[in-house]
Amino acid sequence: TFVVGENCIKCKYTDCVEVCPVDCFYEGPNFLVIHPDECIDCALCEPECPANAIYSEDEVPENQIAFVELNAELAEVWPNITEQKDPLPDAEEWDGVEGKLEHLER
Ligand code: SF4
Ligand code: F3S
Repeated sequence: TFVVGENCIKCKYTDCVEVCPVDCFYEGPNFLVIHPDECIDCALCEPECPANAIYSEDEVPENQIAFVELNAELAEVWPNITEQKDPLPDAEEWDGVEGKLEHLER
């Protein structure tokens, strides 16, 4: 499966959802997640993310391992998203900022 990592938080560009052939992205207030049981590992979304926030499960950086479980957990409770929308207003300012996990809204 693929996993949405920390740099999506407070950016949420949503380019990723447009290319997913199985529509397995789920949307929270300031973050998106991938449903691990629905993702077919096509890898199409990874290069689409302007924030480079998407990883193959086996390439998730060590300090973002918690996001594997976080994607699985939140994909069960958040609604599906299949169409691109505007990024969050301060997306450019937050792109690349470290330690964004504390800003995750549920
Ligand atoms: Fe969707 Fe493919 Fe990305 Fe999985 S790897 S979330 S199936 S676009
Ligand atoms: Fe997030 Fe990148 Fe998609 S910022 S919403 S994973 S395009």
